Amino acid sequence: MDGITFDHVGIAVESLEKALAFYQGVLGLKLEETEVVAGQGVKVAKLHTGKTTIELLEPLGPDSPVAKFIEKRGEGIHHICFEVPDALAVVAKGKEKGFDPVSEGLKPGASGRQVAFLNPKSTFKVMIELSQGPADAGKKK
Ligand code: CO
Repeated sequence: MDGITFDHVGIAVESLEKALAFYQGVLGLKLEETEVVAGQGVKVAKLHTGKTTIELLEPLGPDSPVAKFIEKRGEGIHHICFEVPDALAVVAKGKEKGFDPVSEGLKPGASGRQVAFLNPKSTFKVMIELSQGPADAGKKK
């Protein structure tokens, strides 16, 4: 598909503070920002790795989808994200071929972007985030 690029890996953690002690304190990755994304029930820490980004996701409460993920599967890789020009077009194409979205429509994601997720049950146990937005949103300067 034209214009698709790999954007980031999202990692579910119980505590940003503990995870940052490793990613920042040991690996030396640069913490770009932390942001509460209430709609997704998470606090996100974005770390730069040079060419791409790691997102650490700490649940805001027990009802957060990320809390449920950790409860079921433990901490670990939660999703991978591709930036696309038109996320809903990809979702529609996926549905046509039997790859289901987690929910309908776009949701507000981190950095003012609009996102959709594909259900990992249909996408080989890896949740896929599709992210679109203003060309400069969430971009490194
Ligand atoms: Co993400």
